[in-house]
Amino acid sequence: MPFASTVRYLSPHVNRDTRPLEENAGMTNTQTVGAPAATDALEIRDTRTGKAYTAPITDGAIRASDLRQIKVDADDFGLMSYDPAFMNTSSCRSAITYIDGDKGILRYRGYPIEQLAERASFLEVAWLLRNGELPNQQQYDQWVHDITFHTYVHENIKRFLEGFRYDAHPMSMLCSSIAALSSFYPEAKSIFDPEQRYISIIRLLAKVPTLAAFIYRHNKGLPFIYPDNDLSYSENFLSMVARMSEPKYEANPIFTRAIEVLFILHADHEQNCSTNAVRAVGSSHVDPFSAVAAGVAALYGPLHGGANEAVLRMIEEIGTVKNVPAFISDVKSGKGGRLMGFGHRVYKSYDPRAKIVKQLANEVFQSVGMDRDLEIALELERIALSDDYFVSRKLYPNVDFYTGLIYRAMKFPTDFFTVLFAVARTSGWLAQWEEMLLDKEQKIARPRQIYTGYDERPYRSALDYRKKSGKRG
Ligand code: CMC
Repeated sequence: MPFASTVRYLSPHVNRDTRPLEENAGMTNTQTVGAPAATDALEIRDTRTGKAYTAPITDGAIRASDLRQIKVDADDFGLMSYDPAFMNTSSCRSAITYIDGDKGILRYRGYPIEQLAERASFLEVAWLLRNGELPNQQQYDQWVHDITFHTYVHENIKRFLEGFRYDAHPMSMLCSSIAALSSFYPEAKSIFDPEQRYISIIRLLAKVPTLAAFIYRHNKGLPFIYPDNDLSYSENFLSMVARMSEPKYEANPIFTRAIEVLFILHADHEQNCSTNAVRAVGSSHVDPFSAVAAGVAALYGPLHGGANEAVLRMIEEIGTVKNVPAFISDVKSGKGGRLMGFGHRVYKSYDPRAKIVKQLANEVFQSVGMDRDLEIALELERIALSDDYFVSRKLYPNVDFYTGLIYRAMKFPTDFFTVLFAVARTSGWLAQWEEMLLDKEQKIARPRQIYTGYDERPYRSALDYRKKSGKRG
């Protein structure tokens, strides 16, 4: 048993750096909050007390916890920062993915997404995300071998999936079945044992496509197709989805390439909603199956991964190219909801992934024939990119705008699109989860709140249970 281990729990969070505060001798009535070494600093004057403080700036940020030293008096909790939706808060240091939203740049470990999409394989990218460097041949072969030979799921998982209704949403099924896998691998709780982390990562990368394919087959009422270890990651996935009676599945090479590229594009995207969910849940030191299930739940939402499904539903609702101008004007007036697949919290120019996906869509449509919905999508994009409402708000097509069209051309059902996103993103979630675990500065994620409710008040209820039931306390 190469990966056998007893369940152990060892926290690495020892010797945490707790640097003391120091007086800033240079300024009268001025204190330095946080570490004294930084040369760049922010000067803050608290008008409540008249005191001035200097907070070190490192890597373009001040530490929010430094603000706690700014107090009105000794009983004061200290100043907090208020940042709903993390609009301007870095929650971690990460060396995995770099995005420049204004310039439309996306890099994994320094490598431009365009080069990875064109030349790398998905499993090579998964290795890169986790390890920080591209693998050599031997490392890659071992990685592919380990993933390939862990693609089977326990037979009880099949029965678990069979318990879902025929029309259960595939994302609900994926979320539940990944969470259920946690119960099959109790040793995965040993998250500070490198061997256990490795095998858990291998198992998740290997089994999530199998679960996804089984979910597809369940919804279609088709028998499950077991993994074929002779095939590549993407070919095997397509085989488990589409194989019927043929003894050996031969995937359409254009579809295999499309899946491979889309998986690479979706592999990671720094601190997005689902990655933040994986990190936050993982910070409680739960096993990675449970943390990844949390990521799937976050991805399900229509403002996140669910957007590719929402784009297709929107295009279906629009119906024909001639209805596009009326639809756009409804979006602008607020009557028609949002233009799905447009806008991004980080990208304020064209999403670099959207450019690649648009090109890929053309290749797929050349193979399967032009789609009426692609014409609607192109018209939506044309109008939106020249309309002041979208231009002034820097709303450009995001990755989800064209991915749904490709998936539909490949005959995936609309509600399955986000599952495909989740299969790919599992690689990024796991890299981010491990980086979080090994980061000595990280602790359980536990934000503060600004309490806006009542002050203490006495309990006086018309529904007092004890009086009603005749019981006296
Ligand atoms: N259609 C119309 N108006 C929009 C859109 C849109 N898709 N997105 C943003 N706006 C408007 C919004 O109404 C607001 O206008 P105003 O200033 O007049 O109030 C302004 O643009 C800023 O919007 P915001 O909600 O403050 O921006 P955000 O950064 O909080 O939201 C977003 C980002 C992706 C949630 C949003 O753009 C959106 O809802 N887009 C549609 C859903 C979508 O395509 N999501 C996929 C995102 S990419 C992949 C992923 O993350 O999974």
